[in-house]
Amino acid sequence: MLTLSVNGRDYEIDAEPGTPLLWVLRDTIGLTGTKFGCGQALCGACTVHVDGQAMRSCATPVEAVAGSSVTTIEGIEGDEARAVQTAWQTLDVVQCGYCQSGQIMTTVALLTENPVPTDADIDGALTGNICRCATYHRIRAAVHEAARLLEA
Ligand code: FES
Ligand code: FES
Repeated sequence: MLTLSVNGRDYEIDAEPGTPLLWVLRDTIGLTGTKFGCGQALCGACTVHVDGQAMRSCATPVEAVAGSSVTTIEGIEGDEARAVQTAWQTLDVVQCGYCQSGQIMTTVALLTENPVPTDADIDGALTGNICRCATYHRIRAAVHEAARLLEA
């Protein structure tokens, strides 16, 4: 049994220590906004924040985050999260939507560290977040729009 802090709430989790965090989030806790894509840390669909850092929950054993603060797409808040949500809606970024919670989690972590990212910064941060619908141009524009909102 281990205690997991997710979106500000503590959960007692009965799982093998090596169970991927993603399974615990989706199957045990029921937070299905975090998606399963590749299961191999290659696509970014499963990205969450662990103590504010973007991490691939499919490749993170649940025991590794006991005692840390995990945030999922359902729990993001604050100026960066609001700016990203607004920008995503304004620029109508989403197509099928499958990759987008991962894209947003990576973007919020990026803007928290770097509020005015360049194209290269954006491409560097999001390079591991794959979008099969190829919304990359709108994502990049929305990151700039979110940065503009944060500056305003
Ligand atoms: S499902 Fe985790 S990176 Fe693809
Ligand atoms: S919006 Fe469809 S996979 Fe990215």
